[in-house]
Amino acid sequence: MTQEEAKNKIGSLTAEINRHNHLYYMENKSEISDFEFDRLMKELQDLEAEFPDLATPDSPTQRVGGTITKEFETVTHAFPMLSLGNTYNPEELEEFDKRVAKQLEDEPYTYFCELKFDGVAISLTYENGVLTRAATRGDGTRGDDITANAKTIRTLPLSVDKSKAPARFEVRGEVYMSREVFNRINREKEENGEALLANPRNTASGTLKMQDSSIVAKRHLDCYIYSMVGDDLPVETHEEAIKLLEELNFKVSPTYRKCGSLKEIEKYISDWEEERHNLPLDTDGIVIKVNSLAQQRELGSTAKSPRWAIAYKYQAEGAQTTLKEVTYQVGRTGAVTPVANLEPVLLAGTTVKRASLYNANEIERLDLRIGDTVSVEKGGEIIPKVTAVDPTKREANSQPVNYPDKCPECETPLVRKEGEAVHYCPNTKGCPPQIKGRIEHFIQRRAMDINSIGSRTIAMLYEKGLVKSPADLYSLSYDDVYELEGFKDQSTKNLLEGIEASKAQPFRNVLFALGIRYVGRTVAEKLAAHFKTLENLKQASYEDLVGVHEIGERIAESVMEFFTDEEWLEEVQRLQEAGLRFEEEEEEQQEQASDSLAGKTLVVSGVFTAFSRDELKDIIRKHGGKVAGSVSGKTDYLVAGENMGPSKLDKARSLNVNIISEKDFIELLDLTI
Ligand code: IVH
Repeated sequence: MTQEEAKNKIGSLTAEINRHNHLYYMENKSEISDFEFDRLMKELQDLEAEFPDLATPDSPTQRVGGTITKEFETVTHAFPMLSLGNTYNPEELEEFDKRVAKQLEDEPYTYFCELKFDGVAISLTYENGVLTRAATRGDGTRGDDITANAKTIRTLPLSVDKSKAPARFEVRGEVYMSREVFNRINREKEENGEALLANPRNTASGTLKMQDSSIVAKRHLDCYIYSMVGDDLPVETHEEAIKLLEELNFKVSPTYRKCGSLKEIEKYISDWEEERHNLPLDTDGIVIKVNSLAQQRELGSTAKSPRWAIAYKYQAEGAQTTLKEVTYQVGRTGAVTPVANLEPVLLAGTTVKRASLYNANEIERLDLRIGDTVSVEKGGEIIPKVTAVDPTKREANSQPVNYPDKCPECETPLVRKEGEAVHYCPNTKGCPPQIKGRIEHFIQRRAMDINSIGSRTIAMLYEKGLVKSPADLYSLSYDDVYELEGFKDQSTKNLLEGIEASKAQPFRNVLFALGIRYVGRTVAEKLAAHFKTLENLKQASYEDLVGVHEIGERIAESVMEFFTDEEWLEEVQRLQEAGLRFEEEEEEQQEQASDSLAGKTLVVSGVFTAFSRDELKDIIRKHGGKVAGSVSGKTDYLVAGENMGPSKLDKARSLNVNIISEKDFIELLDLTI
């Protein structure tokens, strides 16, 4: 391909990818499958690799990340990033309005109301239509350059229509993680036995400062833009600026409203008080802005915040109570979670006695002391959390919370890994809650699915010395169970039948049930599908493991460690002897892998290296595609190997069929080889 041809192709691919990206992320529509989208992206990536001087800073390939930032550069904001004054009731709002009226000397004015998004402030600079810099707020004057990470946010335009925008301008907005994404990450963490993330805001903030932008890309951050700043903006009101931002394809939350009076503002406040909980992200109030930019200039700012805007904070659904004690829970992986034990208090219809404190950093951040008056809130999470301490109500000689240095359950000295917020009890094999936690993990629905056992039964079995590891379950006798408190003939039989039935669970469930650190349900599926048998997995080298798609160093190390531990190996052997399945069955392997190729017809031709031609055809069918013998107008893809006949290739080209290599095919379907 000549430079000129490549340039044209890059241009058309970019336009097409941007169009699909916009359709998908901004309009919730899609015209093509993920597979096809990935293929377009791959084609563009390959072209840019071949013609590096044709790659542009606003290429959609930037969205997948890959840049490693060792240290974020400090940058100075062209316009300071101020904060907002807060109001908490209609009276304070009225005072704000009076101050505005007075300073504007009875000139007429209107307001513009928006929700106050609870995320991380960001400033984006566009020059000649292209995003050139993204920066955090920092101290308001100087922030960190996080351009590479910001570019992974799919809804953020990497370039805008130059003819409609000023030559240089900045936009400000709020980067956030939707509750949905946040909950998904936490569910995965829970499954992997990792400590949970505290809230979407902190997670978004931490994600923006990650060094590897390809990991940022996978965390699906999003961003609402709420203002435009610059010296010569082609607009006279904030409302016009918002319309211009929308026209330039920025993602603006459609929740704004122009308000002519305090009464209208109060209506906006009450309209959103409940409704805001249906938005994809947390909001903690509203922002009221004077609409005219000339009047904004006239009102000016103090050193900290503008006089033309104010925040109105909704009352958090919280309550105040006293902290009686902090206790520490030890989970299956040994992670220690501090829990606040509270004087019971009524909150959103339920009595709250306990609240999560997450980790030692959180206790430090709150500067928590026993006997403190604390605020508890119920967020999206089920367990309420302590959000603040009221220092004015603190007793003079109150005692700080001393984080224990020994496990509260087994007295083993706790360890804290470099850079991690969480303390762990390293006594994996002897610490009672870790043992019971592992058995609970083992019997859960997505693992061995033994629903005839609950955590109370596990506790009894453990305390009686009958079950100290999952394998012990399989040697329980009728008498063992019958003698437990609350068990009669039928319940004993049910329990034993449940255990017996679990032996039919497929290998992937067994692998997940073993509770290997970082091997969650999805990873277990991948490993089972790739290695097929436990024996193969045991024999796998570090290189074999990291060679499997999506299996990283951390997982590989953890798997290796598991299989070098004599006691775990013995446990596995006992489970094998009990009759559990340690091999993936043929028919399970034949299962539908995905529907990535649904409705697509593919032709396979030539000689391949990783797979045989028949294997490739099999894979296509497993992913929902159809295999055809010859290229025709109905062919969507030609998977082209070595030495294929030129006539087939020519025909495919003349019919505009997508021609992909074996390598492309493997990558696009995320196949493991
Ligand atoms: S306008 C001078 N609009 O609130 C500041 N800010 O305390 C003008 N925020 O750092 C900001 N939603 O991160 C504005 N609709 C909104 C907002 C908003 C959230 C955040 C922003 C800012 C902080 C101010």
